[in-house]
Amino acid sequence: MKRTKIAGIGMYVPQNVVTNNDLLKYMETSDEWIQERTGIKERRYAQRTGETTTTMGVEAARIAIERAGISPADIDFIIFATLSPDYYFPGCGVLLQRAMQMKEIGALDVRNQCSGFIYALSVGDQFIKTGMYKNILVVGAEKHSFGLDFSTRGRNISVIFGDGAGAIVLQPVNANTGQAAQGDPLAGSGQGILSTHLHSDGAAAEILAMYNPGTHANHWVDQPLADFNDNEIGDMFMSHEMIDNAQNFPFMDGQSVFKKAIIKFPEVILEALNKNGLQTSDLNLLIPHQANLRISQFVQHKLKLRDDQVYNNIQQYGNTTAASVPIALCEAWEKGMIKEGDLVCLAAFGSGFTWGSVLLRW
Ligand code: UT7
Repeated sequence: MKRTKIAGIGMYVPQNVVTNNDLLKYMETSDEWIQERTGIKERRYAQRTGETTTTMGVEAARIAIERAGISPADIDFIIFATLSPDYYFPGCGVLLQRAMQMKEIGALDVRNQCSGFIYALSVGDQFIKTGMYKNILVVGAEKHSFGLDFSTRGRNISVIFGDGAGAIVLQPVNANTGQAAQGDPLAGSGQGILSTHLHSDGAAAEILAMYNPGTHANHWVDQPLADFNDNEIGDMFMSHEMIDNAQNFPFMDGQSVFKKAIIKFPEVILEALNKNGLQTSDLNLLIPHQANLRISQFVQHKLKLRDDQVYNNIQQYGNTTAASVPIALCEAWEKGMIKEGDLVCLAAFGSGFTWGSVLLRW
C-alpha cells in the first residue's frame, strides 16, 4: 500500500514587519487590545507592487522542491490554496506553473480559506495513493494586506491578517512493505499521511466572507448590502457605492466564528486520532491553523496537551489563512521540533465553515 509523505517543505514571509503600533497610523486600536484578544505582536506585509500571492508561493515552493532533492521539472501536479489570488481568475496555480517554468502539468486551485491547505493536502494525498502522481507541489499563500479595510471600521479583521506562503512536496512511500517507493530509507517505519478528515457547514457561510465582487446580486441577505434598492442590486457585480461603503472588504462576525472554532478544532483532531487508534498523549506536535492564539490555547486546554505538543507562531505572522499551517509546520521543522517518526496533526477551521485535519507520521 502506498502512503503519502512530505518530502520537502519551505516557507516565505515578506521582509516588511508591521507591528501592532504601526497600525495606529491607520486606525484606532492598541497593541494591548490586539495582543490580549489575538496574541499577535506583528505580521508581515508584502511589497505593494512586485510581490503577489503567486510570487510568495513560488519562493516557498523553490525551497520545498530543493529540500525534496528534485527540480521544478519533476513536479507533476500543482495544488494552490489561497483566498487572495492575484486574479479573480485564472487561479494562482497556473501563474506558479508559468513562473517556475514547469511542464504542462495539471494545476488546481483550492478555495477553502483557512482550511485551504488541509483540503489541498488531502487532495494531493489521494492522487499520490492512487499512483496518479509522484511529485505533487502543494502551496498555501496569501497577500491579505492588499484587501483589508485599514480604517477603524475594519479593525476587527485587519489587525488579524498577515501575508506569507508555505509549500510542500508530496511523494509516495511504500508503507507496508518496507520497500522505498523512491529510495526512501524510512519506508516501512509507518511514515506518511495516516488519514485526512474534511468537513463543511454552509449554514453560516456569510458570517465570515468577502461578498464582492460576486454574482450573488444580494438575493441571500439584507445586510450589509441593504443600502441598495432592488433596481440597483439586480445586475451589480461591483459598483462605486460598494467601494464607498467598504463592501469590497471581508466581513466577519468574530465571536460567532470563535465559538464554532473552539468546538470543531478539538472534534476534528480527535476524529483523526480515533480513526488511527491513537490518543492525544501519542501526539508529538499539533499544528493548528493560526487563527487566534486564544483559540489555539483553548484547544490545547480542551485536549490536555502540554505546551511542547502545540506549535504557535501567530505572534510573529498574524493569521495567514491558507499559508498558516505550512508556515508553522516548516518553522517547527526548521527548529528541530519535528523528528523522523513523530506523530504530527495539522488542523484548521475557517470561513465556509470548512474545517479538517491531517494526521501524519513524519
Ligand atoms: O482564521 C479565520 C477564522 N477567524 C477566526 O477564527 C477569528 C475568530 N474570532 C476572533 O478571533 C475574535 O472574535 C476577534 C479577535 C476577531 C475579535 O475579538 P473579540 O473579543 O470577539 O472582540 P469583538 O469583535 O467582540 O469586539 C469587542 C470590542 C468592540 O468594542 P465595543 O463594542 O465593546 O465597544 C470592538 O469595536 O473591541 C472592539 N474592537 C477593537 N478595539 C481595538 C474590535 N477590533 C478592535 C481593534 N482594536 N482592532
